[in-house]
Amino acid sequence: MSAEQDSEFFRSFAKVIATLVGVTVLLIVIANSLFGDEDPAREALARERATENLSPSFAVRLSGEPAPVLASAEASGGSAESGGVTEVRSGEQVTQAVCIACHQGNFLNAPAVGDAGAWGERIDKGWETLVGNVTDGYGNMPAQGGAASEEEIRAAIEWMVESETGLDVPES
Ligand code: HEC
Repeated sequence: MSAEQDSEFFRSFAKVIATLVGVTVLLIVIANSLFGDEDPAREALARERATENLSPSFAVRLSGEPAPVLASAEASGGSAESGGVTEVRSGEQVTQAVCIACHQGNFLNAPAVGDAGAWGERIDKGWETLVGNVTDGYGNMPAQGGAASEEEIRAAIEWMVESETGLDVPES
């Protein structure tokens, strides 16, 4: 290849590159003039959707955090004045919302709903001991005081022991 052919080639090549750059700039200008309007409504919508997409679709409640207020408690006429924590949930509601995860089976040796043998060993301790152990935590069971009020814990034990297992809760 001669030097003249070389420079000829570079000149044509430079023209092609220049043309392509020109076309690119032209396309950017056209695209901007067509779609580049900074519509605040559109921007807000895009932001909202991005936030939606980033928020988790479910959450794990670690024991000790307050339990979510049940929809049914609100539907049954709970007052909204008490800042979201409406009324006292029933023993069954508390159990289903908080306790059942462990007390459904014998998870970590938890006395299971309906297991008369397992509950029988526990209820001899006395009512106040049981309630205190649930509120403050006992053995493998983390404290439940943050997830349910004491009244609710009492109701939940009653429901699990009396209604579902057929045993009597101790007197005191
Ligand atoms: C994270 C799992 C878990 C949750 C949630 C849980 N428990 Fe337990 N519970 C246990 C385990 C495990 C034991 C057995 C503890 C041991 O003996 O080491 C237990 C024991 C008990 C006992 C017997 C305590 C004793 O002194 O022998 C009662 C009563 C009880 N739970 C009630 C409840 C109630 C009511 C709730 C809901 C408000 C609840 N538990 C939520 C795991 C759980």
